[in-house]
Amino acid sequence: MTRPTLLLGQTFVAHGNPLLNPWQDAVQIDSAGAVLIEDGLIRAVGNRDLLRRAHPQAAVQDYGDHLICPGFVDAHVHYPQTAIIASWGKRLIDWLNTYTFPEEVRLADPAYAAEIAARHLDLALDHGTTTLCSYTTIHAHSVDAFFEAAAARRMRTVAGKTCMDRNAPEGLRDTAQSAYDDSKRLLERWHGQGRAGYAITPRFSPTSTPDQLSALGALWRAYPDCLMQTHLSEQPDEIAWVRDLFPDARDYLDTYEAHGLIGARAVFGHAIHLEPREIDRIAESGAALVHCPTSNTFIGSGLMDAAGLAARRITLGLATDTGGGSSFSMLRTMAAAYEIAQLRSTSLHPAQLLWLATAGSARSLHLHDHIGTLAPGYEADLTILDLASTSAIAQRTAGAADIWEALFPTIMMGDDRAIADVWIAGEKRRRKHTT
Ligand code: GUN
Ligand code: ZN
Repeated sequence: MTRPTLLLGQTFVAHGNPLLNPWQDAVQIDSAGAVLIEDGLIRAVGNRDLLRRAHPQAAVQDYGDHLICPGFVDAHVHYPQTAIIASWGKRLIDWLNTYTFPEEVRLADPAYAAEIAARHLDLALDHGTTTLCSYTTIHAHSVDAFFEAAAARRMRTVAGKTCMDRNAPEGLRDTAQSAYDDSKRLLERWHGQGRAGYAITPRFSPTSTPDQLSALGALWRAYPDCLMQTHLSEQPDEIAWVRDLFPDARDYLDTYEAHGLIGARAVFGHAIHLEPREIDRIAESGAALVHCPTSNTFIGSGLMDAAGLAARRITLGLATDTGGGSSFSMLRTMAAAYEIAQLRSTSLHPAQLLWLATAGSARSLHLHDHIGTLAPGYEADLTILDLASTSAIAQRTAGAADIWEALFPTIMMGDDRAIADVWIAGEKRRRKHTT
């Protein structure tokens, strides 16, 4: 038994889904809140005076007016693209060929893969992200590099070997059989190991033959506890290419569905230009969609209908999609989600944005019983937000009428300077590159 720690501050507490219920009923901020943590878990969440009296032996960390949130959950990243983030001037397919694939070839070197995995996770932590779900490269060691770096930081993560057996350059192609064998070996090694979870990962239909998609569908049937992640309907040119490559498919989703790659544990990134049949099928299957708003504007992909899809009771996660996304910050990502919703004539409330970045993303990864919510029994992954981290934000917060108005400028203008502290499994992480 370790000595418990009592964190004092304002607390972001969610009881339900604020995209489906009135946000006032689903989410609250307690201005006199406290979180008791012990042995890596949250033991109690409540009023600071009551919890202080009930736990006089606890070490106290007083965060004043800072907001104690569940750690941010980034539901779709490509850690191998860390070093090419913010590369200029291309749309999806050209961007992949010009910037992404040449960089992913470099991860053939295990030492480079380890360096980039560590760099990505440290950048994520600096930005308040405590869990992420990552693509890797076709190299099996790129999966080991990621999970080893995450284990060194005690982070809960999901990842899988990115599989591609066509339309990718020399050195970045596997085969249907090797994708199956490598993915199987890796998921047996990592799934459920410590805080790691495995996602079977065909990159997207254009880079997998039907044989490879079938093989990965068979693997998922054999290991149904794993997630399956891929990309869906990101750009019109990509969708037209999929139509050419799969002339018998009813639509893009059908290229996965025909090979057993749909189900409640499927996680589809982007999903912007969906046909009505695809939306119906996704809703019926229980699959999750991940909104990647900074990527969708940066690569010029389009405006996802997040509110409309949520209203269909489809689970939504939120993600940076680094390095197609232009920021490691889930604050910046929430801001982009807000801006895209505005362009679609919907205003996402800060309660909805923060919920999406925490509990919503956790749900999309089927981790919602472990992380993403401040409640007893949850793992103590926490992000502490300074709501006055820059002079521009502070002057706005100072005049705020209520806590939501005080939080919104940090969502819209905040960055890593707003991250006062990060706690991983009940331990405080020193800011900036500790391992
Ligand atoms: N579609 C297939 N691969 C990728 C990728 O690496 N990034 C994005 N944004 N879309 C993709
Ligand atoms: Zn992606």
